[in-house]
Amino acid sequence: MGMEQKTHFKVDKSKCISCGKCVNTCSGMVLSLGKEGCPQMRDFERFGWRGCWRCQHCLAVCPTGAISIFDKEPENSLPLPPSEMGGYMEQLVMSRRSCRRYLDKNVEPQTIDRILNAMQAAPTGGNSSSVEYTVIDDKNRVKEIWQLAYSKMESAARKHIYTSSFSDFYYDKMKQSEKTVRKDDLLFCGAPHLFIAHEKCSGKWAEDSKVNCNIATAYFELLANAFGLGTIIMSYPADVLIELAPEAKKMLHIPPDHYMKLIVGFGYPEIPYARGVQKDRKAKIHRYSEQERS
Ligand SMILES: Cc1cc2nc3c(=O)[nH]c(=O)nc-3n(C[C@H](O)[C@H](O)[C@H](O)COP(=O)(O)O)c2cc1C
Repeated sequence: MGMEQKTHFKVDKSKCISCGKCVNTCSGMVLSLGKEGCPQMRDFERFGWRGCWRCQHCLAVCPTGAISIFDKEPENSLPLPPSEMGGYMEQLVMSRRSCRRYLDKNVEPQTIDRILNAMQAAPTGGNSSSVEYTVIDDKNRVKEIWQLAYSKMESAARKHIYTSSFSDFYYDKMKQSEKTVRKDDLLFCGAPHLFIAHEKCSGKWAEDSKVNCNIATAYFELLANAFGLGTIIMSYPADVLIELAPEAKKMLHIPPDHYMKLIVGFGYPEIPYARGVQKDRKAKIHRYSEQERS
């Protein structure tokens, strides 16, 4: 069987208007318009750069819903967001803030499921979709990781040994923060749940794998905030687990060759924000515009 047949690419000829949009958006360049003016897929060697990218752009772009692929029917796709979404998104991006104090309460599983379901759409280089997510969705399971991380960190700290980005000064500062901002938990900020994006990281695409993870982290963070949760992106606990507690990956069923650099803590905020902040970072935007020349 040809690989093309594995895509189950189908065109409803009664709906196709031969506009060619599918051909011009096909990431894998496996589509062309046939004699009757309808798209057809050529056979290919394998999925990815040598064939179909599994991106489903053909299904998504067809204005008349004539294309189905991978047995997905266009009518089952989510509609596009309304145009006023821009304003909401802008407000979300500008008002989300790191949350470092949480209620000692699990988030409803349906909310976590919804966020994770949407996460499938986070972009990955070459549409590899190879990022994996580890979610600790029960506060009691988080405690197991806390215990491991703290026992390693504290025994190293007694010898003035820290992770690469830390020192006596920073450790001291973080310890002080346990009295207020990171209530009793300098590492995980008492978050009842943790999210970790990780991916096998080796060879030609190793750098892309890291970027995929970081993009997934950002998507998760925004989605969680959109659902009213508090979040904190954290590198310090990840550093402790990677550098001082290598057994943590095994505990979390994360393969040893997977990149993981950031942990997102999330849950219901104990201290919700009342308004946004007013950052002023315009000085850091470098624009190459025509006006600048004059
Ligand atoms: C890569 C990265 C690593 C971070 N690591 C930590 C961390 O280990 N612990 C922590 O409390 N906050 C951490 N933060 C949160 C930042 O300190 C926070 O984003 C910054 O203070 C700005 O606050 P805002 O997110 O509310 O705008 C991290 C953020 C990023 C982007």
